[in-house]
Amino acid sequence: MNAINRLAAVISLASLFPLSALAADAPAESKGTVEVVHWWTSGGEAKAIDVLRKLVEKDGYTWKDSAVAGGGGAAAMTVLKTRAVSGNPPSAAQIKGPDLQDWGALGLLTELDDVSKANNWDKLLSKTVANTMKYDDHYVAVPVNIHRVNWLWINPVAMKKAGIDKAPTTLDELFAAAEKFKAAGLIPLAHGGQPWQDSTVFEDLVLSIMGAEGYTKAFIEQDEDTLTSPKMTEVFKALKKLQGYMDPDGTGQDWNLEAAKVINGKAGMQIMGDWAKSEWSAAGKKAGTDFECVPFPGTQGSFTYNIDSLAMFKLSAKNNTPGNIAAQNEVAKIILEPEFQYVFNQNKGSIPVRDDLDMTKFDSCGQAAMADFKAADKAGTLKPSMAHNMATSLAVQGAIFDVVTNFMSDKNADPAKAGAQMASAIKAAL
Ligand code: BGC
Repeated sequence: MNAINRLAAVISLASLFPLSALAADAPAESKGTVEVVHWWTSGGEAKAIDVLRKLVEKDGYTWKDSAVAGGGGAAAMTVLKTRAVSGNPPSAAQIKGPDLQDWGALGLLTELDDVSKANNWDKLLSKTVANTMKYDDHYVAVPVNIHRVNWLWINPVAMKKAGIDKAPTTLDELFAAAEKFKAAGLIPLAHGGQPWQDSTVFEDLVLSIMGAEGYTKAFIEQDEDTLTSPKMTEVFKALKKLQGYMDPDGTGQDWNLEAAKVINGKAGMQIMGDWAKSEWSAAGKKAGTDFECVPFPGTQGSFTYNIDSLAMFKLSAKNNTPGNIAAQNEVAKIILEPEFQYVFNQNKGSIPVRDDLDMTKFDSCGQAAMADFKAADKAGTLKPSMAHNMATSLAVQGAIFDVVTNFMSDKNADPAKAGAQMASAIKAAL
């Protein structure tokens, strides 16, 4: 069963359930309510989404926050499907990449023609971003930000303590630095053993070892020869080696708790997208002095992107009031306005989705991300992140996650066999 059929089978059960109320509990003086399902619950993430809440409330609407904890969003997606099944969708939900097409195909998303035309979204957004947000040529979601996934975060004080004079730029240098952190009694790599975190490291290694073309073949084309190639064996060998430097207490650990270990100097480095910066910023740390951000070793010149977006749902009969529709449109409008884009993205660690903003307001990591995004776009090395729902259906992504995480939890796993296992798991998921 493909992703659309799977989702459709779940949603068709909706008829068995009565329509229930959602955001109808707005106070009398509210102009309308907007309920938002998202998974931004770490300290830095919560600070970022709060920017949207405040702007919505300032305009007289009621914000109903339906956050579902869990990095990467798998738990939030489960809640969202259940809500859709019971005919009780929120007004907006964090849905990304190709998954938007599946929700759009089910007719559950609302078209944002009025607000997108009135505010010139086609002009404001790059083609890559705009196309991801459209279903059947209509906007059904609003992009919030662009995250870069292929980053390495380093604590310079820890680096000094370990006698490392510069941030690693190659995989060999990464292993050498890890060895030095270990010798200095530090955790070399902060890493939470959750499937999406494992696969974030895996996709960085694919990009580093196989290059941007190999990345495209492996994840976007899911090409069997590439998945079973000797280069893929090299990727799995590197993953095993890197695992030897990961936090021994990291099993099942949240990414932000692992980030805290680098921030407080217990660990030296973390391989993570730039939402990790939201934790550094929330802790009052400054880019370039208190922490370093460098592209994941060997991936300089490439940019794996992860666009967060809020998809807008057709409201249930009970909630389909002019006030609630106005509230939904207001959220859509606010998100692309400069006021929101500046403050949200500074808090979130990401870069704005519109490229007419003054990047000098951002720190050195943000400025580097924007420059690298544009350069990669020109060079054809701007790639959608597999681990963050941008490159494949959720079913294919799930198959890849399973193989990677099983490989990491099996001490005797054979790197030469993992690629073939991945190819057949992907086939079964299609
Ligand atoms: C999302 C980010 C979020 C991160 C950790 C990613 O998939 O795109 O917005 O901060 O997961 O939860």
